[in-house]
Amino acid sequence: MIRVFGLEKIYHLGVVKVPALQGVSFEIHRGDFLGLMGPSGSGKSTMLHLLGLLDYPTAGTIEIDGIDVSDLDDDERTDYRLRKMGYIFQDYALVAELTVLENVMLTALAQGKTDAECRVASTNVLSIVGLSNRLDHLPKELSGGEQQRVAIARSMVNRPIILFADEPCANLDTANSRAVLDQFHTINEELGQTIVMVSHEEWHKEYFHRIIYLKDGQIEADERRQHHRKDDEDRS
Ligand SMILES: Nc1ncnc2c1ncn2[C@@H]1O[C@H](COP(=O)(O)OP(=O)(O)OP(=O)(O)O)[C@@H](O)[C@H]1O
Ligand SMILES: [Mg+2]
Repeated sequence: MIRVFGLEKIYHLGVVKVPALQGVSFEIHRGDFLGLMGPSGSGKSTMLHLLGLLDYPTAGTIEIDGIDVSDLDDDERTDYRLRKMGYIFQDYALVAELTVLENVMLTALAQGKTDAECRVASTNVLSIVGLSNRLDHLPKELSGGEQQRVAIARSMVNRPIILFADEPCANLDTANSRAVLDQFHTINEELGQTIVMVSHEEWHKEYFHRIIYLKDGQIEADERRQHHRKDDEDRS
């Protein structure tokens, strides 16, 4: 579903050129749960931004469902992001003045659906992440893990074909991290949601189907995992 070819990103800092990605090629298949790993500065966030159409590559192509996204103009890119992509970042970026339900509805409304439709869709995804009893809470009235689950619900509400998560567990303790990863596992398994997630944590690997290791802006290894979470569960 996503085909990346010869992807390059060079940042310009004054006269200094910072090569963040140096000719990366790979494919992501529908339903994959892909981990992006590698040392700090290796280009993981840069890659996620390019794949998520939040930034432009210096060279190379990204094809999504057969469409070369460099052929899209700015409005089409925005539309594509709203309709097809979901994002979860390290800081959950919830709106402090809005309740849990309203935070999720805000994203749904951006798609131009009616208020009633958005309410139903938002209530549904919040129930999937186990927050039905927190709809009227403000973000500050939630635990870190619950806030992250609101961000997950929000990223899912428009049924994106692909979900991008940049270190979504970075601010969470192990128990809450596991709850978030279990949530990802569920939506990947049950809804067939494609997920690309950046992580630093060794133990997160058990959840990924496949891991791409970046180093100095290049793919160092591309590893398909035989025993991911799905297999483990049958034993526990
Ligand atoms: N806006 C920018 N301007 C200039 N250089 C940048 C910019 N963003 C990132 N870089 C540089 O590009 C390289 C890759 O950065 P990137 O953020 O993709 O790394 P990362 O793998 O996500 O690292 P981390 O694990 O620390 O988040 C780094 O050397 C970084 O300093
Ligand atoms: Mg990063």
